[in-house]
Amino acid sequence: MRILVHTTGSSPDPWIAEIRNEFPQAQVRAWHEGDNDLADYAIVWKPPLAMLQQHSELKAVFNVGAGVDAIVEFGDALPKDLPIVRLDDAGMGVQMAEYVTHAVLRYFRRLNEFDMQNRAAQWRFLKPHDKKNFAVGILGLGVLGTQIARALAHFGFPINGWSRTKKDVPGVRCYSGPAGLDEFLRVSRVLVCVLPLTAETAGLLNELVLGKLPQGAYVINVARGAHLVEEDLLKLVQNGHIAGATLDVFREEPLPPAHPFWQESRITITPHIAALTLRGDSVRQIAGKIRALERGEPIAGIVDRIRGY
Ligand code: NAP
Ligand code: GLV
Repeated sequence: MRILVHTTGSSPDPWIAEIRNEFPQAQVRAWHEGDNDLADYAIVWKPPLAMLQQHSELKAVFNVGAGVDAIVEFGDALPKDLPIVRLDDAGMGVQMAEYVTHAVLRYFRRLNEFDMQNRAAQWRFLKPHDKKNFAVGILGLGVLGTQIARALAHFGFPINGWSRTKKDVPGVRCYSGPAGLDEFLRVSRVLVCVLPLTAETAGLLNELVLGKLPQGAYVINVARGAHLVEEDLLKLVQNGHIAGATLDVFREEPLPPAHPFWQESRITITPHIAALTLRGDSVRQIAGKIRALERGEPIAGIVDRIRGY
């Protein structure tokens, strides 16, 4: 078996070592421009289009992340029947649940405001928020969104969820499709975005949509920067409609030093770390799927390229 590896932004070597542990007999090699030798599988992060075009013989391309937008955006330029496989949780769900729960609790318990008081040496009581009027709305009820919902439900928050198709998730008031969006927004005090980036979801978090949240709502984006129209959020924070935001993803990453978000104390910024790819868990999941494919069995996580995720 021949496995090609290309991980934009980091060295492929630790991946190659981990994959060799799973498949000691396989030829595992880093892809380089002009590599035209045949391969059976590819394991990639943000691969160049040329790599995929040169290897239309691949039985599957495994993306070492949940979001496949950086591959799907190649559209028809990709070899027609090349299966693209996303990571299914692989340790990211619990990280997402931790990150979002922390951000929600920090805002709900007014810890962001206490932080500011600390810096001014102020001892001042702030009236607690009322949990029953503090519903958390989760955009995206997939692998990660459902784990966020489960974690927050533990603390007794009312939970709303929005998905493309209709869902029935215990403990979650479920909304779906464009027709369900307005009511979902109207009743959500905190908005969490954990959608895939597709033609339908790009720019969804704009002034019109965020303006439908209740006055004083809080925004958490852990999906992709291009979901958010950044200047619209800034305007709504500055005019007080949105109380603040926790953002892990940005249109340009790293976020440039001159970006106005850095100057806005109501916006908390993290460098795309909400849910990191765990190499060991990911390679074990991918190896299990390769073995299933070699036995002729179906696997989960194949991306629908028309749908975009
Ligand atoms: P997933 O399992 O594919 O779930 C996606 C959810 O979004 C599904 O519920 C889907 O609806 C819904 N959805 C998709 N298009 C929609 C639309 N047009 N309208 C309404 N709902 C729509 O994805 P996941 O594993 O949860 O991951 C979600 C995203 O998180 C990834 O794509 C990635 O961009 C991001 N992510 C970020 C980080 C980070 O560190 N910041 C880490 C990992 C992932 P259906 O259920 O009806 O299909
Ligand atoms: C990270 O952003 C991922 O999509 O897994």
